[in-house]
Amino acid sequence: MPTPLPEGAQVLPDAEAVARAAAERLLAACAGSGRVAVCLSGGSTPKRLYRLLAGPDYAPRVPWERIHWFFGDDRAVPWDDERSNVRMVREAFGHGLPIPPSHLYFIPTDQGPEAAAAAYDRTLRAFYGADRLDPARPLFDLVLLGLGEDGHTASLFPGKPALDAVDALAVAVPDAGLAPFVPRVTLTVPALASSREILFLVTGAGKREALTRLDAGEDLPAGRITTEGALVWLVDAEAAGV
Ligand code: 6PG
Repeated sequence: MPTPLPEGAQVLPDAEAVARAAAERLLAACAGSGRVAVCLSGGSTPKRLYRLLAGPDYAPRVPWERIHWFFGDDRAVPWDDERSNVRMVREAFGHGLPIPPSHLYFIPTDQGPEAAAAAYDRTLRAFYGADRLDPARPLFDLVLLGLGEDGHTASLFPGKPALDAVDALAVAVPDAGLAPFVPRVTLTVPALASSREILFLVTGAGKREALTRLDAGEDLPAGRITTEGALVWLVDAEAAGV
């Protein structure tokens, strides 16, 4: 039975097609000549996209020198830990991309979750150039997000206080309640929502239940993400149940 999907969701044949569609949207988000702010997601789904961007089809087309890379969340572990999103992105990007080191904004997890969240909050405001987000001027050009099987996104988990944070741009999540069982740092709903475009990448049959619950109007974290810009769901056939 087909999974009910968010309005306008694009259904693609497989995970590779989802990654390619996302890569094309990233290139489109880089149109123009100014700086581009991209917020990366963790988890396993976006690895294909990151590898694709670093590979021969896309690397020559990506304006690396103009893009600033942020993280939507990370696990409070050292950057070389196998659970770290920094490590995942580093491995997927590989070496040799012309990314200026100052354009990589890792969450400073070595400081512990609370201090790391406060530091990242300051980093985001400094990059943005103001203390308050103006809806007319989004923080990001593109935000990538995944969908957890319980409906979480970034490290915004159902029923956890981080979900309701309104003033902070980044907060600590002491107890994720989900593997890997380590504290997290996550951007908040207002920070993630402040984007010209938000792209959810959803692949695999394991995501059907969360999509169905979202469609039924359940208050799940992924459903809290709305934007004045474009909200795009790229879903593979397995997740879409077709
Ligand atoms: C993380 C995430 C998280 C992820 C979802 C989906 O760091 O774990 O940012 O929100 O996107 O859990 O994960 P998968 O892509 O592995 O299914």
